[in-house]
Amino acid sequence: MIEFILNDQTVQVTPQQSAVAFLDFLRKDKKLKGLKLVCKEGECGACTVLVGELKEGKLIYQSMTSCIMPLANAHRKHIVTIEGISLEGLNKIQQEMVDNNGTQCGFCTPGFVVSMAGALLNGERINQKNMIKCIDGNICRCTGYKSIERACENVVEDVGGAAKSINTLIKRGYLPEYFKTIKKRLETLNDAKDKSGILKRKNGIKLGGGTDLYVQKPRSMYKDEPDHMYDKSQLNDIKIVGKEIRFGASVSMGDLYRSDVFNNAIPGQEEFFKLLSSTQIRNMATIGGNLVNASPIGDFTIFLLGMNSKIILANGAKKRTLFLKDFYLDYKKMDLKDGEYLKEIRFDIPDTKNTFFNFEKVSQRKYLDIAGVNSAFQLILDDDKNIKEAHLSAGGVGPIPWYLKKTRKFLVGKKWSKDVIEKALVVMGNEIAPISDARGSAEYKRLLLRQLFLAHCLKFDENIIDVTSFIPA
Ligand SMILES: Cc1cc2nc3c(=O)[nH]c(=O)nc-3n(C[C@H](O)[C@H](O)[C@H](O)COP(=O)(O)OP(=O)(O)OC[C@H]3O[C@@H](n4cnc5c(N)ncnc54)[C@H](O)[C@@H]3O)c2cc1C
Ligand code: FES
Ligand code: FES
Repeated sequence: MIEFILNDQTVQVTPQQSAVAFLDFLRKDKKLKGLKLVCKEGECGACTVLVGELKEGKLIYQSMTSCIMPLANAHRKHIVTIEGISLEGLNKIQQEMVDNNGTQCGFCTPGFVVSMAGALLNGERINQKNMIKCIDGNICRCTGYKSIERACENVVEDVGGAAKSINTLIKRGYLPEYFKTIKKRLETLNDAKDKSGILKRKNGIKLGGGTDLYVQKPRSMYKDEPDHMYDKSQLNDIKIVGKEIRFGASVSMGDLYRSDVFNNAIPGQEEFFKLLSSTQIRNMATIGGNLVNASPIGDFTIFLLGMNSKIILANGAKKRTLFLKDFYLDYKKMDLKDGEYLKEIRFDIPDTKNTFFNFEKVSQRKYLDIAGVNSAFQLILDDDKNIKEAHLSAGGVGPIPWYLKKTRKFLVGKKWSKDVIEKALVVMGNEIAPISDARGSAEYKRLLLRQLFLAHCLKFDENIIDVTSFIPA
């Protein structure tokens, strides 16, 4: 049985329903219609729920878009809808939305209110920056956002500072009383003897967060009887072993963003994470899903190619390791055998003294958009400025997420200089094979990658080239 707490009610559903989208379950089975069905693609946030989970003994909530969230991913968690944070009258967030004219047609409003409640319950400091970050996946067509920002400011003024306890949030009029009981109830659910739950369907399609599959083929997901990877504990670890950082394929982008292990090993990646979709999607999207989806523009894929990552593929007790750059064979074709799944990702932790790493992405909108072209570059120089190692990856310039082997071969062993960069640009131009599509012409993508490579070089060494000489006429 799939078992979870929905607002104040413990719910059981059969394993046959494991792939039902959570919003459909809410609206059709439970007749909870506060959250709205708008895009059904994770884009607008109107269906946002909070998902509460015990992590190292603490109850932490994350927002997710329920329209593309499989029911199975709620197993042994607390799911909160707009109805679940309602009081006798309006709660304080709702009141601020009313007082500041933060709602007009009202379609987006429940999703905004739930996301704002998420900012109070995610264990982070409560300030305006974090409140705005928490609504980065909510779209409003009516208000122009300023009134919603003001509502956020007033909530921060009232309850801002260090993260607040659930008891404080109840006393201050943000949450209903039943929230006091949730931690104990989740502990009981998690202690249940049947640990296997819904998660044993070895031959089904592998399903992580669902953020690709539920957009690509929502109908067939219901019939496919997926093998749910999202909560498999052996796929959720983040650790350091020797010189490597290793993480399980079901670790989400949000898990990595919040992970001290990851942030200490690869500091300064906040801007990179902000370029990845929205808070809700990052909380659901697994790294394994990004790699196996094999999109030529997958951001994490390009990041990990730039890190020269290895992947571990498993089938029962059998395992094999390969470099990620050798995994992609052709458009959406991978070296993944029948019965195999992606278990783990590993890469060497860059040595901060000698290694430079940078990620760049160009899209039609800076945030909440997929890339036209993206690229990552890792460069290691010796004391005499000779290139000891270089890994360059690029998305949107060929049928697969591209690791530029020929450009690497050209760079390694050369002296870091303007002349070498100029010659590398020529090698790179001959190596890629972009096509024209909705995101731009082949010529435009060539130009973008050239500029992104220069951006990498300038971020590492701002005096290495005169950038004006590279501005196209
Ligand atoms: C609104 C929105 C915005 C997005 N923005 C971005 C963005 O900015 N950048 C970006 O790169 N992507 C973006 N995506 C795409 C998506 O979120 C990512 O590709 C995500 O990492 C997919 O992970 P998932 O767990 O949700 O994948 P799922 O949909 O669960 O699975 C994707 C594929 O991986 C396979 N799979 C999953 N886990 C395993 C495993 N362990 N072993 C073998 N196969 C497996 C599945 O069978 C499927 O083929 C966006 C998606 C949405 C809906
Ligand atoms: S309905 Fe738009 S994100 Fe779910
Ligand atoms: S109030 Fe109409 S979409 Fe936001």
